[in-house]
Amino acid sequence: ATVRRFKWEVGYIYASPDCEEKLVMAINGQFPGPTIRAKAGDTIHLQLKNTLHTEGVVIHWHGIRQHGTPWADGTASISQCAINPEESFLYRFKVDKAGTYFYHGHYGMQRAAGLYGSLIVDVSDGEEEPFQYDGEFNLLLSDWYHTSIYDQMVGLSSRPMKWIGEPQSLLINGRGQTNCSLAASLVPGSSACELTSKDCEPVVLKVLPNKTYRLRIASATSLASLNLAIGNHSMTVVEADGNYVEPFTVDDMDIYSGESYSVLVTTNQKTSSNYWISVGVRGRKPNTQSALAIINYPPNAPSKLPESSPPATPLWNDYARSKSFTYRILARQGAPKPPPNADKRIALLNTQNKMDGYTKWAINNVSLALPATPYLGSMRYHLKNAFDTKIPPESFPSDYDVMRPAKNQNTTQSTNAYVFQFNSTIDVILQNANAIAENVSEIHPWHLHGHDFWVLGYGDGRFQEKDVSTFNLKNPPLRNTVVIFPYGWTALRFIADNPGVWAFHCHIEPHLHMGMGVVFAEGVENVRNVPTEAITCGMTGKMLINNHLP
Ligand code: C2O
Ligand code: CU
Repeated sequence: ATVRRFKWEVGYIYASPDCEEKLVMAINGQFPGPTIRAKAGDTIHLQLKNTLHTEGVVIHWHGIRQHGTPWADGTASISQCAINPEESFLYRFKVDKAGTYFYHGHYGMQRAAGLYGSLIVDVSDGEEEPFQYDGEFNLLLSDWYHTSIYDQMVGLSSRPMKWIGEPQSLLINGRGQTNCSLAASLVPGSSACELTSKDCEPVVLKVLPNKTYRLRIASATSLASLNLAIGNHSMTVVEADGNYVEPFTVDDMDIYSGESYSVLVTTNQKTSSNYWISVGVRGRKPNTQSALAIINYPPNAPSKLPESSPPATPLWNDYARSKSFTYRILARQGAPKPPPNADKRIALLNTQNKMDGYTKWAINNVSLALPATPYLGSMRYHLKNAFDTKIPPESFPSDYDVMRPAKNQNTTQSTNAYVFQFNSTIDVILQNANAIAENVSEIHPWHLHGHDFWVLGYGDGRFQEKDVSTFNLKNPPLRNTVVIFPYGWTALRFIADNPGVWAFHCHIEPHLHMGMGVVFAEGVENVRNVPTEAITCGMTGKMLINNHLP
């Protein structure tokens, strides 16, 4: 294991991710940001300088558990103070588990401004992956809007709310084309793209015939749920969120914001053609052209268009199909098993609400507000009045009808946090429900910081006590992100064994902005060595000035 050192600067650049020039939040002038590549057990030392002109920044290492370094989790108001313009912060953390991860901004909606990149952890020296491949490619998927995140954030928190709408394009490794198709000559009715910038040229994967490739795929989308398919080639799923899964083969796969996968693809098709990789929208009525990339077999020129049209994305509202894909994800044999019982169970109802005419998302009727002083500091140093210390609700009314709009749509807002007994086993039932409008219930991918959890099961309608007997304790997959389907529930179990304060939230950026998240804390008294730079703001900042550091 070694220490890998990085020096990064975050700042806006002009770029044309989908052939239209916009401001993009970049790292060292690159969009997406540089890929971090390390080996399991390595330590990352990453000096992040903020060169934005007028706002703070933080970066979250999505899927890295931050054992012993909760202050490096990169969540503004939770694990650290935002880094001010012209200031630097040293992220220091261990990447302890091989897998496909990514990183992204976690302050306001900076992820949607383009602040993301890949983080890939290889097995440590002498270890082997439990599957074989000859080469690999990395595909970081995202969606892209032409309105600035400032416009988006103000709209979402206006009264009445201005919704951001569907993205203008989907990007593969930061490249896409807006409102046109690379496959226009093969797809009747679509208009041809004019590639006006190098930034929007399609991604080409150069392969050799009869080899097996590992495709690492992660989704950093702001809103879109995606489906990925490769013309003529099937895919064998082997990894999800940095955990091995029991291999299964599919023709297309869903991927929700915050998820990552590895699939194996064998290049066993005829070599006289190139093939499309197609990425389209699921779960919302799409208004965005699919993103396309090219698998290039020699001796074809990379620019030669595949012979057939790109694989069609399954119908956006074919939820049965999405469920059947998701339900197939199970732990690989030999993976860690969950404890047989939980010490505590909480149920979290997801609803869309109103608060004085503002539209919010709420959990058990509490919409998340973030405090000025990061929890990690205020909890660790027992500061009074830094956040609402009332215990948040651990369930919701037993007569709540999840199939209908709420009778009372009002919600409150709070900074309160769930505090768990250190090392206890927690079950969380995520319960979906009808939104404000009749007959609307959306997909929400929930992401937990600081832990992986076992996904014990899913169901339709309201979770009932008897559903506990259907929990999969035999081979539940370990994940850090899991989806709740419309009107359904998802059950997960984790061990609260990581001292710190951790966000648990819907990974859809506008939903989180509208309060769709909660804060978990455990063992905070055991947290050691919080660098003062992480807490030099708010009430912990004052504490430091008064030199009261215990
Ligand atoms: Cu990738 Cu809290 O998020
Ligand atoms: Cu959501």
